[in-house]
Amino acid sequence: MEEIEKIDQIELLRKAFETFNEATVKLQNSYNQLQEEAERLRKEIEKKNVELKEKTELLDAVMMNATSAIIVTDNNNNIILKNNSASRLLESSSKSFQEKLFGIKNPSVLVIEENEKYYNVSLGKFTLSNKNGYIYIIDDITNIKEIEKEQRRNENLKLMGEMAAGIAHDIRNPLGSIEIFATLLRRDLEGDREKENLLNSIIKGVKTINNTISNILLFTKDIRLNKKNVYIADIVDDVILFMKHLMNDKKIVFQNRIGDNDQIYCDIELIKQVVMNIIHNAIDAVPQGGKITIYSEETSTNSSIFIEDNGPGISPNFIDKIFLPFHSKKAKGTGLGLSIVYKIIKAHNGNIYPISKPGQTIFKITLPKEVK
Ligand SMILES: Nc1ncnc2c1ncn2[C@@H]1O[C@H](COP(=O)(O)OP(=O)(O)OP(=O)(O)O)[C@@H](O)[C@H]1O
Ligand SMILES: [Mg+2]
Repeated sequence: MEEIEKIDQIELLRKAFETFNEATVKLQNSYNQLQEEAERLRKEIEKKNVELKEKTELLDAVMMNATSAIIVTDNNNNIILKNNSASRLLESSSKSFQEKLFGIKNPSVLVIEENEKYYNVSLGKFTLSNKNGYIYIIDDITNIKEIEKEQRRNENLKLMGEMAAGIAHDIRNPLGSIEIFATLLRRDLEGDREKENLLNSIIKGVKTINNTISNILLFTKDIRLNKKNVYIADIVDDVILFMKHLMNDKKIVFQNRIGDNDQIYCDIELIKQVVMNIIHNAIDAVPQGGKITIYSEETSTNSSIFIEDNGPGISPNFIDKIFLPFHSKKAKGTGLGLSIVYKIIKAHNGNIYPISKPGQTIFKITLPKEVK
């Protein structure tokens, strides 16, 4: 009997061991799994930390190097954070500018002006668990303001131009009649030197006004070209007929070295206006008895006209402004002549540039030949 009990106990013990062993294996497995999980989590945190560091660095770099000035303040206007642009702005700006800036407390976008500079300020609020405050983003918009001003100026100029074009048309008709009558009268009075001279002055005056009007009209309207191959000599002859009186007054020596067969592919009326404006300037520039020369040159692709005078030359600091409208050094100049010259030459896909030194100015006009 005792023997049987012993055997049962051993069996129970064996079973208990077996169960214990099984539990140990399970525990070991679970422990291993837990360890693997812990390792995976550690690696994930490490990766997240690297990502966070990279993102923080990127955010810092973006913030510090942004062209906009960024300033973060607490509720008492203490600066908590600012970027490089903000440091520069705060160093260079006045106290009153900063008072104005930090006086803005309602989220909005506004413009502050200081020392002819304009700043766009956009304000935002932030709230964190332990602090809140303001974010100021400030942009220098002086350039945009300048462009806006320029646009307004151009609109005004355009309106003025349209008005001037209307007036110019009205003046031109009676002017034409005056010129015709004066020319007829001069014919009748041939022989009476004094009266002939008076009429010459009238005709000269009328021609000058006419030329100014042509310039104003060309300035305001779009250029349409009617291009043909024309003889340069025809252009020059017409212009000289028009300018003869002005040249005679100053006893100018005019040398026309254009060959009879030299041609140029252009709108003849517009290039006459170009040559006229340049010769007009040359007449103004040369002294009494001065010299003006015109000649041409040809390559396989281009034709060029040169107009040279022995006036004082154009000063180096003014030469790059001469083609801009309303840049004149003359008491009675409108400063339109060369801007129209430029407009016409560019419409022809051509080029014009001055070559000038004391005692000499040459304007070189180059137009492309007809492509056949
Ligand atoms: N041949 C030249 N020699 C010296 N200066 C010149 C010559 N041509 C032009 N300039 C300078 O360039 C300026 C601009 O010329 P532009 O023809 O555009 O205007 P303007 O002659 O003053 O006036 P406008 O032609 O409208 O009557 C002139 O005022 C003058 O100072
Ligand atoms: Mg001129």
